[in-house]
Amino acid sequence: MSGRVALVTGGARGIGAAVCRALCEQGAAVAVADLRDELAARTADELTERGHRAVGVALDVTDATSVGAAVAAVHSQLGEVDILVNNAGWDELRPFIETDEAFWGRIVDVNYLGALRVTREILPAMIDRGWGRVVFTASDAGRVGSSLESVYAGAKGGIIAFAKSIARETARAGVTANVVCPGPTQTALLEELTAEHEDAAKVIAAMTRAVPMRRLGQPEDVAAAVAFFCSEQAGFITGQTLSVSGGLTMA
Ligand SMILES: NC(=O)c1ccc[n+]([C@@H]2O[C@H](COP(=O)([O-])OP(=O)(O)OC[C@H]3O[C@@H](n4cnc5c(N)ncnc54)[C@H](O)[C@@H]3O)[C@@H](O)[C@H]2O)c1
Repeated sequence: MSGRVALVTGGARGIGAAVCRALCEQGAAVAVADLRDELAARTADELTERGHRAVGVALDVTDATSVGAAVAAVHSQLGEVDILVNNAGWDELRPFIETDEAFWGRIVDVNYLGALRVTREILPAMIDRGWGRVVFTASDAGRVGSSLESVYAGAKGGIIAFAKSIARETARAGVTANVVCPGPTQTALLEELTAEHEDAAKVIAAMTRAVPMRRLGQPEDVAAAVAFFCSEQAGFITGQTLSVSGGLTMA
């Protein structure tokens, strides 16, 4: 990936930070773009200290102005984006009948429209240059459903359908679009989700039991699949959805 520029949304921590590391290790220059801008800067600094090329960029995927400014900042600091990883996401566990329009709006804005905003900003230049990789971090929830995550699952399912459609539209322009679906993965998001439950340890244990390999995913497990879709070698693969979940989803 040397000579390639990557932008990873939600790159400051968790799966996104592991993706930033994996892409840097394969030679890409990486923009760590996140709402948590100080953490994004720290994540980028850690990569720079290890000899990689990385910058931290403030980004709120729910705000079109912020998206435009972040992409312009990456362009001026690293160059045109060749690899886009739409990874920023957010959720809270709630039974559907206890949710309301305001909650639906927040979930869809971050997890679905956020990825559309960033992709809309970056895709035209990829098409013009005849090369691009777009990878989305969706979720197994978007493939098979998930109790207490109905709205999030719908947004992630939307991402899978959106990615396939983009893949069709850009197939002859040298741009691929693919989706990685993590199962339960050990990150701050998972801790925050389960911490709201009285018996968080039991929730995590039940999630782990549901995984045939009987362990939670690690951010690096997911990052390896994302990095593969971003690679030169994956150039004939587009519109695909790959679960990284220890066998949880085999559909
Ligand atoms: N952890 C899991 O179990 C799991 C399972 C399936 C899918 N996922 C998905 O994987 C992705 C990464 O999740 P994670 O577990 O690493 O979570 P995380 O909370 O550790 O990291 C997500 C990052 O996204 C950033 N972010 C949130 N809202 C944003 C916004 N509006 N604009 C820009 N950045 C924003 C956060 O600041 C954070 O750094 C998400 O899309 C999530 O839905 C996670």
